Amino acid sequence: MATILSKPEYEESIAASRDKRMAWWREARFGMFVHFGLYSVLGRHEWAMAIENWPVPEYEKLADKFQPKPGAPREWAKLAKAAGMKYMVLTSRHHEGFSLWNSKANPYNSVNYGPKRDIVKEFVEACRENDLRIGFYSSLMDWHHPDGGAAAYDSAARKRFNDYIYALNEELLTQYGKIDILWYDVAAPMQSWEGWNTLEINQRLRAIQPDIIINNRSHLDEDFGTPEGHVSAMNDRDWEACMTFNDLSWGYVDAAQVGPYSYNVQRILRMLATCAGGCGNLLLNIGPAPDGSVPPEAVEPLTAVGNWLAKNGECAYGKLDRNKEGWGSGSGVCAQSKKKNTVYLWNWIWPKDGELVVGGVTSTLKSAKILASGASLKFTQEKYRIIFKDMPKEPQDKIAGVAVLALEFDGEPKTVSFASTPPLNQGKIYR
Ligand code: GLC
Repeated sequence: MATILSKPEYEESIAASRDKRMAWWREARFGMFVHFGLYSVLGRHEWAMAIENWPVPEYEKLADKFQPKPGAPREWAKLAKAAGMKYMVLTSRHHEGFSLWNSKANPYNSVNYGPKRDIVKEFVEACRENDLRIGFYSSLMDWHHPDGGAAAYDSAARKRFNDYIYALNEELLTQYGKIDILWYDVAAPMQSWEGWNTLEINQRLRAIQPDIIINNRSHLDEDFGTPEGHVSAMNDRDWEACMTFNDLSWGYVDAAQVGPYSYNVQRILRMLATCAGGCGNLLLNIGPAPDGSVPPEAVEPLTAVGNWLAKNGECAYGKLDRNKEGWGSGSGVCAQSKKKNTVYLWNWIWPKDGELVVGGVTSTLKSAKILASGASLKFTQEKYRIIFKDMPKEPQDKIAGVAVLALEFDGEPKTVSFASTPPLNQGKIYR
């Protein structure tokens, strides 16, 4: 390995290759997170081992009950594909320390125990069959490893533990061909990149997979930010919001245990709208059942999202422009994404009188249509407002109640700021 760069040199070098490495990711918008491990057998929360203080030998016995059916990852990948997702990220090893692959560094793995199969390999094959990019989630924390706690205060333990973590990730990045994303999580117990030696480790890992994209959870900023449990745009960098499906647990829980928390198709599309408007991605998690099957409550909404994207994908995928002007966001009836001279209004309160008004716009509108049907819309434009008249009175999206209006302007779409609009013209988009 070449010499290890200093932090500023490293950051400069990865910034220089970022546009090229991340081109596909910036257009992908939507990915599937999969949390699968021994905690799936318990079916309450992926942190159960720590929260309930399981003795390690007791917890290890769960491996016998961990018996994913053959082909389970193919089911996940097929659903991801049907949902219009473009990539997947699998918990190759969660905090519990059980590796889902044939690991020499970690004998506590799914080839030696439980199913006696390489689940990561099956996952990689399933992604490739479905033309999905491949990501590995890799926890830095490890509750099973004897040095996983002592590493905080014992330098010999820390050295062993850091070597172990490196060896795991080296295996993941050498054994399965091209890998697209390394998704680190929970860098504890050390609290700095120096403690983890991630400056060096990440450089060595990048040398194995030069195109890889790394998230920001190893105490280094790396390639993208990871808002968790909320979808909020980060204006200064690439970002990906990760969300659980049921809003409660990343690992499997039976829907019957949790009541009506699951996301429906419209809520997922509204999250996606925020991502598209802010040029970020949505990584939506499913927690497969112990036998690896997809949680049934995810199938219908995700399939509906995919059907919607098949008709409306133009407003979500591809190279979008950041919606810094905040076209109508928060106004209630629409969110928006932007691509060159076109603004896409994702509408979820359809005007029952056939009239919709967009306020605060200063650019000239050339044409407007309903994206899914192509039906053109009549409009008039005055200072600060565009008025759509004689729109169909029936809501235009039967799948999710989210109809998209594509507005093409004669140049880069511009709005005036709230403060400079006349008092009566406050909200930017309103009815
Ligand atoms: C948190 C949790 C973890 C989960 C992750 C997903 O950091 O510790 O259980 O895997 O978020 O982003």
